[in-house]
Amino acid sequence: MNTEKVTTRTLLKMKKKGEKIACLTAYDYLTARLLDECGIDLILVGDSAAMVFAGYENTLPITMEAMLYHTAAVKRGVKRAMVVADMPFLSYQTSIADAAQNAGRFLKESGAEAVKIEGGRVAAPIVKNLVERGIPVMGHLGLTPQSIHKFGGYQLQAKDKESAERLMAAAKALENAGCFAIVLEKIPYQVAQEVSRELSIPTIGIGAGPYCDGQILVVDDMEGRYEGFEAKFVRRYADLAGQMRTAFKAYHKDVKEKSFPSLDESFSQE
Ligand code: KIV
Repeated sequence: MNTEKVTTRTLLKMKKKGEKIACLTAYDYLTARLLDECGIDLILVGDSAAMVFAGYENTLPITMEAMLYHTAAVKRGVKRAMVVADMPFLSYQTSIADAAQNAGRFLKESGAEAVKIEGGRVAAPIVKNLVERGIPVMGHLGLTPQSIHKFGGYQLQAKDKESAERLMAAAKALENAGCFAIVLEKIPYQVAQEVSRELSIPTIGIGAGPYCDGQILVVDDMEGRYEGFEAKFVRRYADLAGQMRTAFKAYHKDVKEKSFPSLDESFSQE
């Protein structure tokens, strides 16, 4: 397996070669270590942590401090993959100065190699400013979960011609502003294909079909741990919740029946 450290330049080269970029989210050290060992190219410390790690209803409540903590934990588990920190709601929308301060904290305090921000044309000046300060930025278009209250739900985006054209214009604006990659979430595959063709930076799809330059899923969805969530675009690779339930029940039974711990699992004076 290729052990060379993944950087923004690696991702660009992969797009040029037509090599797909495999990305997943992570929020903790042990998961990050496994993802890295298995060759995942980019690990996003997503603000989806608010939902799958902390149990909130949406991504809005998670704080800078929580995201810094998760990012630092992930970073400690990773040698090769690029680690990208998701900037939480209101950590960059309030002003360019806030965006620079908070993005800088991710690089300085948690070891992230880049940040991700949501939004199109409005986000472009923020991206430009961060990139000028030496902070690599990943964009995020389509269904941007921090705008859940504006959308009124998690519906498919860019469905009609006008909204698809708006998305294309936003993608170009983000590329011109200096993004090194753009996440495309829950949009028709034809729109994602067109954007991927038009841009020279990689597109990373989630619910955006097979023609993106890379793919990302929320790790708890693909490993079958976040059971309440069903989506057409999530492929379940494991049933970790089922396996964990079996283990917890077996442990519960063993303790109740006094078969755990055995003397072999205990210390002796001799
Ligand atoms: O927060 C997150 O996990 C994300 C991915 C879904 C792209 O933004």
